[in-house]
Amino acid sequence: MTIKHAYRRLGNTFVAEAAGFDLRRPLAADDVGQIESAIATYGVLVFRKQPMDAEQQDAFIRQFGPGRTPLFKEVAGASATLIDVGTVDDSGNPISKDSVQGWYNLANRLWHTDGSFLRLPIRLTGLLARELPPSPPPTEFADTRSAWASLPASRQAELEGLQVIHSVIRSREQVGFTADKFDPATLRDHPPVTHPLVRVHPQDGLKSLYLASHASHVDGWEVERGRALIAELIEYSTQSRFTYAHSWQPDDFVLWDDRRTMHRATPYDGTHPRKMRQCAVHETVPV
Ligand SMILES: [Fe+2]
Repeated sequence: MTIKHAYRRLGNTFVAEAAGFDLRRPLAADDVGQIESAIATYGVLVFRKQPMDAEQQDAFIRQFGPGRTPLFKEVAGASATLIDVGTVDDSGNPISKDSVQGWYNLANRLWHTDGSFLRLPIRLTGLLARELPPSPPPTEFADTRSAWASLPASRQAELEGLQVIHSVIRSREQVGFTADKFDPATLRDHPPVTHPLVRVHPQDGLKSLYLASHASHVDGWEVERGRALIAELIEYSTQSRFTYAHSWQPDDFVLWDDRRTMHRATPYDGTHPRKMRQCAVHETVPV
C-alpha cells in the first residue's frame, strides 16, 4: 500500500508539517525528490513522531547528500555526521558550558545558517528532539526569502552583487570564544570564505538573503561598515513577520533549508536533560 504524504502549512507561517513518513526506513527515490521540493517551498519541515536512533538518522540525512564533517574535533555525537546539541551528550553526560561543545551551543543562540563559514556550506540541517524538559525552549527560524522579497527594488539593487566574508571566528568571538581558543588545526583548515549576499535557490530560482552570525564583513568595504550592514539585514530578516518559533514535542524531527532560512536556539538553563541530535548535508558546489 502506498503511504500518502501530505504537507500542511502551520498556521500563518512559512513552515509546514509533513505527514505520512516513517523516516526510520529508507525513502523511495520519489520521496527524496518530493522532500527536496517541499523543503524548497516551505524552508522548514516538521516531521512528528520520528524516534530515529543514531544509525537511522545518519542514514536518513545521507540520502540527501554528503554528510557533514564536524568542525571541532571535540564536538561529536554518535557518528561523524551527527552532533549532540542539547544539555547532555549521547551517553547522558552533562555538556559543560566551559567545554568547546558548550561554547558551540552558546553560539547557536545567534541567528545563523549552518556552516556558512565553509566553502561548501551546509545545505540541509535536521534536528531530532530525543528527550525534552517539561517546558522545552523553542528553536526559532527566519524566512530570508520573504525578507529579500519584501525589500524595495531600489534597496535590492544596492545589495545585489555584494560579496560577504564568512568566518567561524566571527560567530564564536561574539560569545567570547576568541581565535586564541581555537585548535590551530581548525583555523588552518577553515580560512575565511566568500559568498554572495543574495543567493538564488536552484529549485525555484527565487532569491534570498544569505546571512549568518558567521558573516564577518563585506568584501571591498571597510570592515565596520560591512558589519553594520550585516547587523541591519539580520535585524530586518528576523522581524516577527518573517519568523517562526518551533515548540518541540518528543520525537519531532525538524528539517530546514539553510539556503533560504536562518535559525537560532533559545536559552535553556533548566536541570532536566534536553537531548537533541543534529544532522546535516553539505552543498556539493560553491554558493
Ligand atoms: Fe545551527
